[in-house]
Amino acid sequence: MSRKPDFEQLYAAARDIVSEDHRADVRLKKICKLLSNTIDYYDWVGFYLSEAERRELVLGPYVGSPTDHIRIPYGKGVCGQAADSKATVVVQDVREERNYLSCSIHVRAEIVVPIMRKDQVIGEIDIDSHESSPFTVDDERFLFSLAALVEPII
Ligand code: SME
Repeated sequence: MSRKPDFEQLYAAARDIVSEDHRADVRLKKICKLLSNTIDYYDWVGFYLSEAERRELVLGPYVGSPTDHIRIPYGKGVCGQAADSKATVVVQDVREERNYLSCSIHVRAEIVVPIMRKDQVIGEIDIDSHESSPFTVDDERFLFSLAALVEPII
């Protein structure tokens, strides 16, 4: 198991993708692939996009098993909690989280980072892991920077 991803290198690669001349959804999907191919404990990597008036999240580009959770109301599940609180939510063991929407029985941990524009949540980065307690403060910092990086193309 390769620990300690090179987050600086990943950030630089993501920045290159953001500046490519493709449609936004194509670039977001490439970022999902980059993360999921590079970090072995990132097993599902995706974006949710906000429909602010309806207070709902809508599934955007992702890599990993298909999910039933195409639309998620604010407040529901880990994604909905992050949208409501406008803050990163880290669940190191989903079996201990009551407000959780299961995507696959293999998932053990999840991190959701809101993508903010001014004080509005415009989307989220959502990562599922098949490992328990895989996320460190370095993952949180990296995903926080990544959220700011992709904000202009959401
Ligand atoms: N587990 C999420 C639902 C989305 S899937 O992980 C893709 C949640 O509790 O909100």
